[in-house]
Amino acid sequence: MSKIIDGKVLAQRLRDNLKDEINKLKEQYNEVPGLAVVQVGNVAASSVYVKAKTKSALEVGIKVIDHHLNEETTQEELLILVDKLNNQDNVNGILVQLPLPDHINEQIVLDSIHPDKDADGFHPLNVGKLSISPKNDENLLIPCTPYGCLLMLKSLNIELKGKDAVVIGRSNIVGKPMAQLLLKESCTVTIAHSKTKDLAGLCSKADILVAAVGRPEIVRENWVKENAIVIDVGINRIEEKIKDNIKNKLVGDVDFLEVEKKASAITPVPGGVGPMTIACLLRNTTIAFKNSLK
Ligand code: GUN
Repeated sequence: MSKIIDGKVLAQRLRDNLKDEINKLKEQYNEVPGLAVVQVGNVAASSVYVKAKTKSALEVGIKVIDHHLNEETTQEELLILVDKLNNQDNVNGILVQLPLPDHINEQIVLDSIHPDKDADGFHPLNVGKLSISPKNDENLLIPCTPYGCLLMLKSLNIELKGKDAVVIGRSNIVGKPMAQLLLKESCTVTIAHSKTKDLAGLCSKADILVAAVGRPEIVRENWVKENAIVIDVGINRIEEKIKDNIKNKLVGDVDFLEVEKKASAITPVPGGVGPMTIACLLRNTTIAFKNSLK
């Protein structure tokens, strides 16, 4: 039986620390961090995430500046809003929820966010800093999901140095930055993807396995080495038939019940990486605020 890494508890701890820190900053500077949350359209999952991010931000004392734009918003209009937020003093972090509608070029929008206000850590300058900096530095704006995964690994208090890590998924949001973070912890990192030969065989050699593929329960027991640490980034909605009722269910990229028996530690879905992603967004916003005071 493996240890279940409780993302809810770890995220709560992180939020409690941030709340204390923000209180102290408020006493000292009479200001609190401000986060602009921009959503375009009404993708259901995005609405859920935006609501959760807003609620958590308010709880720790971050001011939220909400901009919910309709589906027909043009790229030009969105860029004008980002420019306004870039120049707005009470905004320290800007989050543009992805995905954006098809008629908007996501990279152009992400590039337009001022790197100092890049709450997601997606701007090329911050991506470059993450790649270049020798350590996973306190002041870097690091993509929230992979940083949350790293904090979960660190919560185990084990030596990461020299471990064989496999990251399944090569996205800019998770896979690539996750690999950078693990590399800086001196892991030997392999990024696997849909064209990888013998994916199961490769994964079964990993001491640390991070699954960020977006395929429900693809990682089975035979993909996992005995006593490996398994981090499940997937959030997949599937339908489950119970008697005659069809119910929606959230599952990860890992078959939890199978893999739990073999891994030394595993993150659950829900209640694993998800809450950590949000807590790390609040961390980035607070860092951006502190950097703005320098
Ligand atoms: N969509 C899915 N994950 C994320 C994320 O971490 N940040 C943003 N902005 N959009 C997302």
